[in-house]
Amino acid sequence: MSQSSQDYLKRDKEYLSPALSRATEIVLGKAEGSFIYDIEGKKYLDLTSGIAVNQLGHSHPEVVEVIAKQAANCIHTSCVVHYPANIDLAEKLASIMPGNLSSTFFANSGAEAIDGAIKLAKLAKPGRTNIVVHRGSFHGRTLGAVSLTTSKNSYRKYFEPLLPGIHVTEYPNIYEIGTAKGREFLVKHLDDIFNNYLDNVVAPETIAAIVIEPILGEGGYIPAPGIDGTYNYLKKLREFCDKHEILLIFDEVQCGMGRTGKWFASEYYGIVPDIQVMAKGLSGGMPLGAFAASKELMHKMPPASHGSTFGGNHVACAAALKLIEIVERDKILDAVNSKSKLVFEFFENKFPNSNTHKPVADGSPRSNEPLRGHGFSAYHNPQLQIRGVGLMIALVFPSNEIATKVKKQSLEKGVLLLGCGIHGNIIRLAPDLTITEKDLLHGLEIIAANI
Ligand SMILES: Cc1ncc(COP(=O)(O)O)c(C=O)c1O
Repeated sequence: MSQSSQDYLKRDKEYLSPALSRATEIVLGKAEGSFIYDIEGKKYLDLTSGIAVNQLGHSHPEVVEVIAKQAANCIHTSCVVHYPANIDLAEKLASIMPGNLSSTFFANSGAEAIDGAIKLAKLAKPGRTNIVVHRGSFHGRTLGAVSLTTSKNSYRKYFEPLLPGIHVTEYPNIYEIGTAKGREFLVKHLDDIFNNYLDNVVAPETIAAIVIEPILGEGGYIPAPGIDGTYNYLKKLREFCDKHEILLIFDEVQCGMGRTGKWFASEYYGIVPDIQVMAKGLSGGMPLGAFAASKELMHKMPPASHGSTFGGNHVACAAALKLIEIVERDKILDAVNSKSKLVFEFFENKFPNSNTHKPVADGSPRSNEPLRGHGFSAYHNPQLQIRGVGLMIALVFPSNEIATKVKKQSLEKGVLLLGCGIHGNIIRLAPDLTITEKDLLHGLEIIAANI
């Protein structure tokens, strides 16, 4: 007997842990491309892509085919043998990752990969007990990764004390400062603020690693300053880390794998980290995480110092290889940039004078006057501020209530959206990278009608 959504929701409450909150009450019937259908057949345009995961949309036929083929050949062996998909993927990643990042460890998720990256840093920097992270970041929910996470206290408060030696510095958010003067001040004094923190709170020679999301994800889709050619915060971090022999870790779990229109967001800043962490879009929906480093650094991890039963399994690696092949073959990164432009132009036209921080297509400086030209909607248009890069775009509303209303009403009209940001006032647009312009525009029209 077929069951209704209501039947499933009742059983969900009965048998599943309430710890995992759900964004909607939709019970999935099937998913295809940019759309999901509930069990009664209602269609939704999915602008969440499974929290920025399904780069090629739901169940891309070529990915499905390769998964089926690999599953028929072998699903799982763990580290009992070496296997081609694993080795082929590591080699392919080495060709798309920046700089000398060429050696990879595969895990199952972003959090696991973050844990591995921290272990590598600890191994490579014996005696240095501290890690510096940035406020508002989300790095995952394992006890290691959650110790680095400061985007919401609900992730941490029940589980403290967490890992010792984690220090939190500010994420330089130039986009949420109300006055032009305030922004100018922050940009001018970022060096001082950072150095003061290090002088007074944590001595550089005790730090093993500094961790940052080049574009803050769950914390509010905030690009680190410098993406528009102004004060390059990541470059400053790089110089600082080099000077004090600290490892620089970029968490590209959400902003990596093409989401921003480049394989990795760090490319916009021209900076190569020592360790790069990936997951989400890496395998287009299969559970796969990874951290990568130079061969020299990675080889500081002796055999058996880290491992995983399922990490880098045959099927997930085969799917990731196919994903990379399709993104390259179909020039999907270029398309991300043009779709991003379309989103920004759409909102600019709908809400003239809104405060648009335009995406940068080629990473070149857009203006030598840092903050002019992307003023702040709180000034010019109280309804909306837009910021982001590629298809990682934030719609920032004046309040949590408005963002919630827009999400709810859009859902009623068949458009699925997710929030982000520490104040709950942001809607993130993270559609699949293959969404058609027509479907994207349709979704934007519905969102705009509800603002
Ligand atoms: C930037 C970032 N790092 C790490 C994670 C954790 O990834 P996972 O949920 O796969 O453990 C996330 C998940 O949202 C993320 O956005």
